[in-house]
Amino acid sequence: MLVNLEDVLGHAYRHGYAVGAFNVINLEFLNGILEAAERQRSPVVVQIAEVHFKYVDIEEITPAIQHMANRATVPVVLSLDHGESVGTIVRAIRCGFTAVMFDGSKLPFEENVEQTRLVVQIAHSVGVSVEAELGRVGSSEGAEGGVAREEFFTDPEQAEEFVRRTGVDALAVAIGNVHGFYRGEPKLDLERLKEIRDRTGIPLVLHGGSGIPDEDFRKAIGLGISKINYFTEMSRKALQRVKEVLQQDSRVVGLHDLILEAKEAIREEVEDRITVFGSAGVCERRNDICSTCQACDLGKGPVDEGRLVEMVTQTVIRMMQGGAHGTGGEQGHLGGQPRGRP
Ligand code: 13P
Repeated sequence: MLVNLEDVLGHAYRHGYAVGAFNVINLEFLNGILEAAERQRSPVVVQIAEVHFKYVDIEEITPAIQHMANRATVPVVLSLDHGESVGTIVRAIRCGFTAVMFDGSKLPFEENVEQTRLVVQIAHSVGVSVEAELGRVGSSEGAEGGVAREEFFTDPEQAEEFVRRTGVDALAVAIGNVHGFYRGEPKLDLERLKEIRDRTGIPLVLHGGSGIPDEDFRKAIGLGISKINYFTEMSRKALQRVKEVLQQDSRVVGLHDLILEAKEAIREEVEDRITVFGSAGVCERRNDICSTCQACDLGKGPVDEGRLVEMVTQTVIRMMQGGAHGTGGEQGHLGGQPRGRP
């Protein structure tokens, strides 16, 4: 079922796991990712990056994603990844995306705050969640040889101010991560991450997931990472499978013989990541996400009155503060919850 990012990340944040966010550039990627999420009973984020618009037309593919997401028996978020302008954000919202990421990381701080704030006002007015980036995660998805540069790491004090002034729901951080393949071993600045978590109190996002060792993922998740973006390695695995099949199977006569193989490789990689990120099995028990997801029988169970009262109370408090779904000028509405495994 298609759901909002805040529904999914709120649960991940409170219960100490991360939701995988996988980039889609065609239906094979989409099928592989959704099959993996179903098999692992996990929420998932399907996202399309603006840099990938040369491969995929969002007006064309969104109806297919919506159709498949609404048929899925797990929660699916459809997010714009690295939207570079307000125009692209509005385009994605009009298509029916349930989340948008605005990437103002190349802008001076004040301009990033102003533009992100505007995006939050627009998106929240129609119930769409917002992720933004502070500091700069360098390099590009699918590219070779990225190196993280410390001068672009997220400053924890600025992060606190950024979150307070923009009202974003989730913040992408630069802590030693880069997009694409890493040159050398990635080294995450976990001290910095901890300080950002303590100062912001909202779900944090780790971009550039490909190439980060599993143990580092686990440590980062323990320090507030609730969403992990992942593309390059998934795409490489699909290519590797296609090459293997071409070498080993003389019965291949055309592209159609390779498409399913690529999809299978994507499914396997995504299943594996979901396990490492700790979101496998989240949909095996009724939980907070069910109240908006309703995709399987668990969601149709009796209403949890305690949770309902809590949600209404939180909403009233936010409205009184003129917060997240109001003016967009307050701290993201997922913040400040205790963390710990369910
Ligand atoms: P990788 O391609 O390095 O996994 O990063 C994906 C990403 O961060 C998309 O925003």
